[in-house]
Amino acid sequence: LLVNASEALGRPIPETLFGIFFEEINHAGAGGLWAELVSNRGFEAGGPNIPSNIDPWSIIGNESSSLTLSTDDSSCFERNKVALRMEVLCDTEGTNICPAGGVGVYNPGFWGMNIEKGKKYNVVLYVRSSGAINVSVSLTGPNGLETLATHDITASASQVSNWTKMEVLLEANATNPNARLQLTTTRKGVIWFDQVSAMPNDTYKGHGFRSELAEMLADLKPKFIRFPGGCFVQGGRLKNAFRWKSTIGPWEERPGHFGDVWMYWTDDGLGYFEFLQLTEDLGALPVWVFNIGISLNDQVSTSNIRPFVQEALDSIEFARGDPNSTWGSMRAAIGHPEPFDLRHFALGNEDCGNKNYQGNYLKFYDAIKKAYPDIKIITTCDRFSQKLDHADLYDYHVYKSAKDMFSMAHQFDLASRDGPKAFVSEYAVNGKTAGKGNILAALAEAAFLIGIEQNSDAVSMASYAPLFVNDNDRRWNPDAIVFNSSQLYGTPSYWAQCFFRESSSATVLHSTLQTNTSTSQLIASAIMWENSGDNKSYLRVKIVNFWNDTVNLKISVDGLEPNSTILLSGSTKTVLTSGNPMDENSFNEPNKVKPTQSPLENAGKDMDVILL
Ligand code: AHR
Repeated sequence: LLVNASEALGRPIPETLFGIFFEEINHAGAGGLWAELVSNRGFEAGGPNIPSNIDPWSIIGNESSSLTLSTDDSSCFERNKVALRMEVLCDTEGTNICPAGGVGVYNPGFWGMNIEKGKKYNVVLYVRSSGAINVSVSLTGPNGLETLATHDITASASQVSNWTKMEVLLEANATNPNARLQLTTTRKGVIWFDQVSAMPNDTYKGHGFRSELAEMLADLKPKFIRFPGGCFVQGGRLKNAFRWKSTIGPWEERPGHFGDVWMYWTDDGLGYFEFLQLTEDLGALPVWVFNIGISLNDQVSTSNIRPFVQEALDSIEFARGDPNSTWGSMRAAIGHPEPFDLRHFALGNEDCGNKNYQGNYLKFYDAIKKAYPDIKIITTCDRFSQKLDHADLYDYHVYKSAKDMFSMAHQFDLASRDGPKAFVSEYAVNGKTAGKGNILAALAEAAFLIGIEQNSDAVSMASYAPLFVNDNDRRWNPDAIVFNSSQLYGTPSYWAQCFFRESSSATVLHSTLQTNTSTSQLIASAIMWENSGDNKSYLRVKIVNFWNDTVNLKISVDGLEPNSTILLSGSTKTVLTSGNPMDENSFNEPNKVKPTQSPLENAGKDMDVILL
């Protein structure tokens, strides 16, 4: 491998080349990155109709003798009227004595709540009753026997005759990753509950994100976040698509919605504002994916698309408009008067072939460009198959076998360098060869990313998909980060991405692989970047060996300036491999496949390396 370290022969890599794609799939957000512990906190999972679906809320006590549960539409929240009505039939005295510990309801969260000793949890609930109440709010083990934290709320009839917000801070005295929240009482009467929330009070930057998951994202140093999804944005039906105006404002007032592609309810605690906040917290640019009136099964004709276009314009004003503007003032009222740095707007997802796409697209394009000429518009139409006039970027999705993904490293070698650039917003090895995310898949993806790095004058942005999976609801396989209530690990695909975290804004150097049979299964690239921490220049060579044997490779670096600050002493090599290409990580062995770094003993102008 010949590398020329002269920057003059290299090419700057776009600032935003590598980022992440967040989709509400696999409970990535609800029951994942969004730290809310209560599932179905507003009892709305069945939609606005009565009776609603209170799942996974369950009864504590005997349904016929000690209490009855039902839903009605008496909530004080206009956009989500469903409330839980609990009629307690037993009491502390008389003929029908409540069991010790009381009767009531519990919520097991998303396959168990992770409650940790010494940590604090903010519980908020809305209560109404026709009489005085005495309700124990408790975090307990999975069967209710072990109490991890508890607090009694008492109120007179007059205090709770109207809906009243109650707030409790619980500190856990023990750890249980499979805990639940209980609301119990031993007093006869009728109590209504609504909007019951439990949040750990140590979320990422205090913004509601589950810390350890957000930290894994931060470690990737993503330059952008595409959100809130692909098919999730489309919806199976338009009525179930993500509509941002329903996801902003006080969480209690959000109606929530059923994501009918990945088939689960979300309370939309992770709404449009929170996504923008996440981008800012991670130092990434937002890429806002917008439904342009087309779902997987129904659509709005171009002649009726105007309200959707207005929604798009309003969303931009919300993100970056003046704090005195209609929607900008709502952002300011939430506590963020400064604009978010929204520069990219994706019109639709995978719906280019749809009969209304072109017509709808142009209406959005014209309106957005007129109001915000600097915003880069992303089309879902593929530049390989058609000429694109009205687009700054085109969205390109690649899901392949490992072998085919390795070959895709050359997909952009011949792509035109003029006109719209590619945004490879979804790529991954999937199918049988990928398992649940193995080394083989990661190697092929790394090869593909090396190809993108080398062709970064034709590709501006790239992100892996999907990002997250809650192991209890695997709707798509593989994924980059696997978690349950208390555990998490990166798949090899996650770790492969870490090799590229310095690439955005770096210089891709001129390099040539002299190939023979085995080296045709190699792909390599070299980058150089200046580290702002120590103002020194670093050079990184990345090589993927897709051959089924070890390869001895000579690396020669030419063109180093005599006074170059490129570090040779202290150089390291980082290896992502293990014995078997099918190896995967798991909760039991989360670090089985992880990059290992060691000193590069023979660092210099000429180096012999062995690629396993
Ligand atoms: O990443 C999973 C899905 O794959 C996305 O929702 C969609 O855009 C693609 O088909």
